[in-house]
Amino acid sequence: MENFNFKAETNILFGKGQVDKLPNVLSSFGKNVLLVYGGGSIKRSGLYDKINQLLGDDFNLFELPGVEPNPRIETVRKGAALCKEHNIDVCLAVGGGSTIDCTKAIAAARFYQGDPWDFTQDSRLVKEALPIVTILTIAATGSEMNGGSVLTNVETKEKLSFGSRKVVPKVSILDPTLTFSVPTYQTLAGSSDILSHLFENYFNKTPNTMVQDGIAEGLMRTVYHYTPLALKNPEDYDARANLMWASSLALNGLTGSGKSGIWSCHGMEHELSAYYDITHGIGLAIITPRWMQHILSEETAERFAMFGRRVFDLEKDDDMMKTAQKAIELTYETFKEWGVPMTLGEVGIDNKLLEEMAEQTIKHKDLATEAYVSLDKEDVLAIFEASL
Ligand code: NZQ
Ligand code: ZN
Repeated sequence: MENFNFKAETNILFGKGQVDKLPNVLSSFGKNVLLVYGGGSIKRSGLYDKINQLLGDDFNLFELPGVEPNPRIETVRKGAALCKEHNIDVCLAVGGGSTIDCTKAIAAARFYQGDPWDFTQDSRLVKEALPIVTILTIAATGSEMNGGSVLTNVETKEKLSFGSRKVVPKVSILDPTLTFSVPTYQTLAGSSDILSHLFENYFNKTPNTMVQDGIAEGLMRTVYHYTPLALKNPEDYDARANLMWASSLALNGLTGSGKSGIWSCHGMEHELSAYYDITHGIGLAIITPRWMQHILSEETAERFAMFGRRVFDLEKDDDMMKTAQKAIELTYETFKEWGVPMTLGEVGIDNKLLEEMAEQTIKHKDLATEAYVSLDKEDVLAIFEASL
């Protein structure tokens, strides 16, 4: 295990009715609040009205609506201008990963003289940020409990991230009933994303990380158990609650601390989203089993077999390769059974730009030296082609 620094900085308020604590939570940061939200789901669900009613005349509420899935840098610029103009004390992000990520960049841009896209080139430019409070409405990214932010620049066809402790949310309100209205497609994408975060940390070069691996296996089993239940009955409280808590724990440092290296599938998926604006979790579900198959070898078989035994309850086989192969098949089949479209064609991607996207993947991520298994441009292209 490598050295690490782990701190769970976010105060989590979990469960039914926790939104009622919002006035109390916000009052410790100030009166001028920037409410950031997405395309309108919070209006349809009644959450927007509830927030307005709770905050009443005690706060000066300013709004940034319309954060896009795969949030755009232009929206960040708008939000930063609002913060400066209205002397905002605290940012309130209400929504999913896109809204929270956009809010993180806004909170940091408030104190930055240059353009916020710079953060994606060098996270150290984030020196200070406004406090962030979130109300999560979809279980997926873990953004509610980490310092990551992923932004899209449509002009340059880039989707890049930055990370800073300064933008870790101070408080996140996690009420699973707020996710009852998440549509099937986004539920699929959310669960696929949670699994991918766990896989990316689990299939890693650092040896002797039994704590991290055991937590990851437990969370994977949780996602595999509860996703079909949430799909069948979107108002199954226990299913939504377990998925929500799994989303936060999968990417708050618990399963990744003490491991080195960089992720593979996220690098590839971010190019698909940058070029075709597809849903993050769906892109990951398509790529992941193809990546697993591509890197399966005598060296990696043991870990894939372990994953198969511990997560899918596969029997121990003397031929480790057989168990590993079966585990990869089950990874694919489970996504398919849930209803995830499992080819790039189904999400509107053909073979025209695969080469360019493979090149960009390698330009943005050092997969040759830092990944679990070294990947060059040809490898990435082969994975994309296998996903068509
Ligand atoms: O925009 P609204 O109208 O709110 O609708 C959203 C959006 O259309 C809808 N939705 C959310 N909650 C809902 C709901 N619809 C009905 N009822 C609800 N309760 O779902 C759609 C997707 O929302 P989005 O915020 O985009 O989803 P998600 O949470 O999956 O976030 C994806 C973004 O996060 C980034 C991804 O790359 C992508 O840009 N990621 C962020 C990470 C991080 N900060 O740590 C890590 C991840 O790996 C990921 O890269
Ligand atoms: Zn992700």
